[in-house]
Amino acid sequence: MLLEVRDLHVEFRTRDGVAKAVNGVSYGVDAGETLAVLGESGSGKSVTAQAVMGILDIPPGRITGGEVLFKGRDLLKLKEDERRKVRGAEMAMIFQDALSSLNPVISVGDQLAEMFTVHRGMSRKDGRARAVELMDRVRIPAARERVRQYPHQFSGGMRQRIMIAMALALEPALIIADEPTTALDVTVQAQVMELLAELQRELHMGLILITHDLGVVADVADRIAVMYAGRIVESAPVHDIYKAPAHPYTRGLLDSIPRLDLKGQELYAIKGLPPSLLNIPPGCAFHPRCPLARDVCRTDEPPLYEVSRTRGSACHFWRECLHG
Ligand SMILES: Nc1ncnc2c1ncn2[C@@H]1O[C@H](COP(=O)(O)OP(=O)(O)OP(=O)(O)O)[C@@H](O)[C@H]1O
Ligand code: SF4
Ligand SMILES: [Mg+2]
Repeated sequence: MLLEVRDLHVEFRTRDGVAKAVNGVSYGVDAGETLAVLGESGSGKSVTAQAVMGILDIPPGRITGGEVLFKGRDLLKLKEDERRKVRGAEMAMIFQDALSSLNPVISVGDQLAEMFTVHRGMSRKDGRARAVELMDRVRIPAARERVRQYPHQFSGGMRQRIMIAMALALEPALIIADEPTTALDVTVQAQVMELLAELQRELHMGLILITHDLGVVADVADRIAVMYAGRIVESAPVHDIYKAPAHPYTRGLLDSIPRLDLKGQELYAIKGLPPSLLNIPPGCAFHPRCPLARDVCRTDEPPLYEVSRTRGSACHFWRECLHG
């Protein structure tokens, strides 16, 4: 396994109390594999990724337990300077908002070239040449001319391509893309997602793709991990999930995808809201919203039951959900 997160716990100290953002998350991704992480806003997708990357806001954040094994080494035990070497060179992250990640007063070419001059000790001229190559690789037209331009001179989609180029520069083994297309127009979204998936295959990287859009993951992901209130509630190969979800929350997410063939029908929405992380309901955290909930769900927290060798569900009644 390239990356294996084991039983990760993250809390935030806030004025109102301790927000339990990540409560025992385990997931893994192999080289050449794409893991999609799904879940509503606030379920802990980004915080988990930040803990993996070593960019968590500490304080107010605090990792209270778990391991982040990357190529067998626990990154949580590394010193900050060792950690910094891993970041960028071995794992890189792509964010939703390219404009705030890029420096507005440095040309994109220089920003890309810096990856090579700073991390690889290349000359400026060689760095520039590599920048043009990278821009070609992410299919930015007229790369040789545009390398001198500044971030604001690029469209949103093109800027996101530059972010992808930046992430790929040092050929990391793992990329974490946190909602990489959310800020883009729908038509551009598909192109950028396709590009990312293609490069991931070509370079045989591990990819963790965070999204709340179940629609996009079907084509690109190998596995799906569904998060709710800081836990993984279902983890499975993508085709298994689309065939039949083994958790009522996953079912709710699937049923809320707009379907072209059911135009005009009212869109399903999971009733209620995700819980406050200051006060997660006892038992199964999903019980206040779950159509299958019964008494045991209000008292006993479901473990991640083994549905098959490659699949887990944290629902006492996963069989019913799967066959229902
Ligand atoms: N810097 C912070 N300070 C305090 N609390 C935080 C901070 N960052 C995250 N949290 C808490 O962690 C929770 C989970 O946040 P996270 O960003 O992981 O959600 P997410 O699943 O990525 O949601 P979204 O889909 O909106 O990006 C938040 O609801 C918030 O309570
Ligand atoms: S354990 Fe109970 S409340 Fe939780 S998802 Fe399953 S049926 Fe619903
Ligand atoms: Mg997020």
